[in-house]
Parts: sequence; C-alpha cells; structure tokens
Amino acid sequence: MPLCNMTDLMRAAEERSKAVGAFSVSSLEMIRGTVRAAEEMNTPVILQVAQVRLPHAPLYLLGSAMLTAARHARVPVAVHLDHGVALPCIREALEMGFTSVMFDGSSLPLEENMQTTRRVIAMARPYGASVEAEIGVIGKTEGGQERAAVCASVEDSLRFLKETGVDALAVAIGNAHGVYTGAPKLHFDILAAIRRQDRTPLVLHGGTGISDEDFRRCIENGVRKINIATAAYGAVYEAARNASDYFHMSDRMEEAACQVAKRHIGVFGAFSLS
Ligand code: 13P
Repeated sequence: MPLCNMTDLMRAAEERSKAVGAFSVSSLEMIRGTVRAAEEMNTPVILQVAQVRLPHAPLYLLGSAMLTAARHARVPVAVHLDHGVALPCIREALEMGFTSVMFDGSSLPLEENMQTTRRVIAMARPYGASVEAEIGVIGKTEGGQERAAVCASVEDSLRFLKETGVDALAVAIGNAHGVYTGAPKLHFDILAAIRRQDRTPLVLHGGTGISDEDFRRCIENGVRKINIATAAYGAVYEAARNASDYFHMSDRMEEAACQVAKRHIGVFGAFSLS
C-alpha cells in the first residue's frame, strides 16, 4: 500500500471531489514532517522534489530517502519528480522507483512540448509511473527566476490532453511560484472549460499564497493535485533559525514541515483509500 502510483491517488481524489497535496521536500526533516502530517490526518500525500533543487540534495540520496519513507508510511505516498526538464534526470528518477515524473516543457513551443511529453510518457510506462506536463506559463520559475504568467488556452490544453494522453496537466491560470506580490487572480473559467470536455486530473502549481476559497474553487473545477513548496521551505527555514542547537533545530524543522502540510491538507480534503 504505502508507495503508490500518483494516478491512483488522483483518481481517488476525483471520486471524492478532493485534491491530493504535493509537498516539496529537500531534507530528512521535511520528508518525515510531511509523512507524519499525512499519517496523523490519515490521508494520502505526494512527496516531491524539483530538478532545480537537486544541487542541494542529490537525487540518489534524497530520492532514496523519499522512497524509503514512502515504503514505511502508514498511508499511501506517491514519490514525484517536480519540474523535470532534462530527460536523463527524469530517467534516473524512474530507475530509482519514483512513481511519477513531471516533464516541464512550458518554455518550449506547443508542438515540441507535446512531442517531448510523449517521449517521457513512453519512458515512464515500462516503470508503471505517471507523467505530469505543463501548459501555458506559470509566473516565476520554480527556481525563482522572474517570468510573466501567461494563461493557457483552452483549445491548446484540450489538444495537448488528446494528443499526448498525459496523466495530469498543470494548466497556467494566472498562478505563480514563490511569493505573490498581490492577491493572485486565478482564471477558474479555463479549468471549467477544459473539464467540460476532458476529465484528466488538473494540477495547481504555485500553491503558496492562494486563499482557501480559491483552492476550493480549483478543486471544484477538476484540480486533483496541489503543489506547495515556498510555504514549506519558508516555515522550515524560520524554525531552523530559531533553534538552540542542532537536534532542537532538526525537531523544529520536522514540526514546521508537518504543520504546513496539515494546514493545507485540511483545505484540500483528507481522505482514506479504504
Ligand atoms: P509554491 O512555491 O508557490 O508553493 O509552488 C510550488 C510548486 O508549484 C512546485 O512545483
């Protein structure tokens, strides 16, 4: 049960009109805190790390810890590579046993994004892993580089889903990674229009700073995976800064990651697979 396919989790969320929280992790403390949150709330969770974060915690070490934590968890856990851009990195994650990978071709022309997404799907299928892709431009990159948000077109999104058969699609609806400078204005109509014609699970990136009300509207419109990174890294950093010694720091970091995950899971909706 514990190490799970991401598509199975999103399907279960769909049946219950909920979303699965996907939390970025970069340390043992973040992994343990996030898994503990899911266990205490008795709900599935997705542990993820973005390719751009791997210089701080290499995949062969961090990924092994994520997978081991998932295998020992008392709740279903999917292990996901977030914002994979290099195919060798995506292949390494698949070979390690990640149950899901993202190919982020959002900076590529549509045709090229679809073509490479299809290649990644072909790579992932023998491992039984799920594939997430991205369309439109989500403001600011996961690595913190500024870029203007551009909403995805409904027509392109439907074509993308039909022609790639991807398992989950991150659709840009005015959302952005990092800290929002003003209140985010999300275009729920894009999600609704896609969902009227295609039931593929949609993904919301840039979860930090989005209101509970907006999270709920995204879920009503077919979002089944919600990514949280900045809130977790920020809370863990604050917790570490205020510690008295190493072990106190480690405990505080784990607790901070746990609280961030719990707060969001409370909004996304906890559920049991059984
Ligand atoms: P935030 O950093 O805004 O929470 O976004 C997380 C994310 O989308 C990771 O892919």
